[in-house]
Amino acid sequence: MKTSWFFFLQHFILIKIFSGSLVDYKACQIKYNCTTTNLNPGECPSGKFLDTRYTNNCCHGCRSGIGRGESGCSVTRANRKCAPGLICDEDFYCILERTSCLHTMHFDENLVGWKPKCEIDGTYSPKQCRGDKLTGRCFCYAEAGERVFGWKWWRNADSMTCTCSRQRYKAEKSGRLDVTVHCLSNGNYEDLQCDMGICWCADESDGHIVKGTFAVPEALWTYLPCYNESFHGDQYLRKCESAAFAQKIAQKKLINRGAINAVPRQIQCNYDGTYGEIIIENPLAFCQMPDGSKLNYAAPSKMMSDMNCNCARDEKIFTMSGIEFNLRCSNNGNYEPNQDQNGKIFCVDRYGFSVSPLLQPDSGLDCDQYIYYAQEDLFFEDEFEY
Ligand SMILES: *[C@@H]1O[C@H](CO)[C@@H](O)[C@H](O)[C@H]1NC(C)=O
Ligand SMILES: *[C@@H]1O[C@H](CO)[C@@H](O)[C@H](O)[C@H]1NC(C)=O
Repeated sequence: MKTSWFFFLQHFILIKIFSGSLVDYKACQIKYNCTTTNLNPGECPSGKFLDTRYTNNCCHGCRSGIGRGESGCSVTRANRKCAPGLICDEDFYCILERTSCLHTMHFDENLVGWKPKCEIDGTYSPKQCRGDKLTGRCFCYAEAGERVFGWKWWRNADSMTCTCSRQRYKAEKSGRLDVTVHCLSNGNYEDLQCDMGICWCADESDGHIVKGTFAVPEALWTYLPCYNESFHGDQYLRKCESAAFAQKIAQKKLINRGAINAVPRQIQCNYDGTYGEIIIENPLAFCQMPDGSKLNYAAPSKMMSDMNCNCARDEKIFTMSGIEFNLRCSNNGNYEPNQDQNGKIFCVDRYGFSVSPLLQPDSGLDCDQYIYYAQEDLFFEDEFEY
């Protein structure tokens, strides 16, 4: 048990460390009396772009530079720099700096329909909202722009922080596959957490232990003041998580017997312990809702890496909320990129948001030119769930 307590402490120390670079950045801004700290990308005059490290490596400023797709840049010569949001590639062309949210300053908003919100340090804001206030939705994003678990209708998203989703995503990406932190459906922390053999009552917005309460070993979790028998039941792991855990153990046994090729795909669970978007019933893979109910969209299971089930799930979500859903889904549950309504055609991205103007049906619509998230598919290899 002693080692668990040690890990518990470490866990919180890690959370602190992860905000370190931003703290340094802010300290630098204070030190140099940056007067333009709150400049946002839209405030720069046309032809100039926001540089968040314009002077002293921390004060904001607007500057121009070599433009997107133009050649002749240099990483060493100041007067041959790419515009902010772009980097110089090995052939000395300025290309989008995809690791920074600020590359999106180079997109024409009328064309892509939406631009993500960026933080001053060039990372993506945790909460990204799209659509309109009434039927629009907010989603959780990781620092580097990957969509992660957690969403809410925009009108209900005021207290959404996405901190839990971000922390868990980060922990899993760094190689920890046994994270059991539970997030709420909006990406915040659930009130009772167990991880690494320790349980505690957590603050919803940052996951830290609630003042005046104590962390306990997992066996004593029902003694926590935040424990609620009718909600939490008699075990911390949810149905999907228990099944996934059992499958992992079974796989380990198979591997130990040398059956390396016999490893089936793991059961995928969401960060709130509900079911992931796909259920395999060989030879087919079906889309499923978080509660485990099967949807009428499927593909051969060997094609399931192309499935995101966003459209299949949205159709159900919208219908259950009494909001009309009139976009077309592919048979595998993804959004059809080409949509048509009232005699006009347009393109939607993989999340179902319109990314093109309304066009005449005979205009030879090629959605690839509009869907900036079509490129994201190439850039990020992981599949995101929500
Ligand atoms: C920042 O402002 C303070 C007070 O106005 C001043 O004392 C200090 O010298 C300034 N620092 C720099 C680096 O300009
Ligand atoms: C306990 O959980 C139930 C079911 O989710 C809920 O209705 C109830 O309000 C909770 N009680 C407390 C004290 O939070």
